[in-house]
Amino acid sequence: MEDFLGIAELGTKTLQDLLDTAESMAEVLTRRVKKVPTLRGRSVANVFFEPSTRTRNAFELAAKYLSADVVNFTGGGSSLEKGETVWDTVRTLEALGVDAVVVRHRTSGVPEAMARQLDIPVINAGDGEHEHPTQALLDLLTVRQRFGHIAGLTVAIVGDVLHSRVARSDLYGFSALGARVILAGPPSLVPEDLAEPPVRVTWSLEEALAEADVIQVLRIQRERQQEGYIPSLQEYRARWGITRERLAQAKPHALILHPGPQNRGVEIDSDVVDGSQSAILRQVQNGVAVRMAVLYRLLGGEPE
Ligand code: CP
Repeated sequence: MEDFLGIAELGTKTLQDLLDTAESMAEVLTRRVKKVPTLRGRSVANVFFEPSTRTRNAFELAAKYLSADVVNFTGGGSSLEKGETVWDTVRTLEALGVDAVVVRHRTSGVPEAMARQLDIPVINAGDGEHEHPTQALLDLLTVRQRFGHIAGLTVAIVGDVLHSRVARSDLYGFSALGARVILAGPPSLVPEDLAEPPVRVTWSLEEALAEADVIQVLRIQRERQQEGYIPSLQEYRARWGITRERLAQAKPHALILHPGPQNRGVEIDSDVVDGSQSAILRQVQNGVAVRMAVLYRLLGGEPE
């Protein structure tokens, strides 16, 4: 693996290996001194052209826990403001000597295009509506830790699937590891032909909740209201919001995931976010371990 651009292109064995490595990294994170010398002398550039809290900080901590040096690049205050292109920006970072680039961009395909231009590994930290592969890894790890396996589980992905890079990466990852995936949401956000069997589309939240072992609740992007995909945030909540009452109709062991950031009171209520079935903070925690695994795989050699 030379770059890490999407889950769709990974084989099942690579996916399993990454999760196993992430499990070892999660053990490092339980230690009082969370630092190993694995990537000493290597450096990583976080290049984020879009806002991020979880992904950017998790990549930075992951690199530091592996003893790599980190450069954080954001557009503001950089030569992008003088008209420099994103391509010249990453070539400049490569010339400065960084060993890997972590990229988030609002346009699908930018990390892949960068990977074609650079000799160093490129890691996709979320590109447009295409993929968010490290998010899928942390979702897979969280589910595997809770259930001990992924094969045979039913995973419902609820909400704005159409525009969601998380939904795409999750769909590929959970399907590859043997889970059944149900996509649920209003027809405007989950068109019937969005996925092919065995992935199922439903416009009934009740049906999805009744079958799910795992419920991944997607963020409703507020601009979708202006674009006419949903009548209003209030109506979305009334029909599709995950409330305590709705969760009571799901299996008692159903696990709640959300990639964040959450719109509390829109797609998910506060008492579900903070409730006993929620693994949302565990997802965030696992975000560090999976990014350590990806950096290790790309910069530190094959996992043992
Ligand atoms: N899940 C996720 O990508 O969150 P951030 O936008 O905060 O990185």
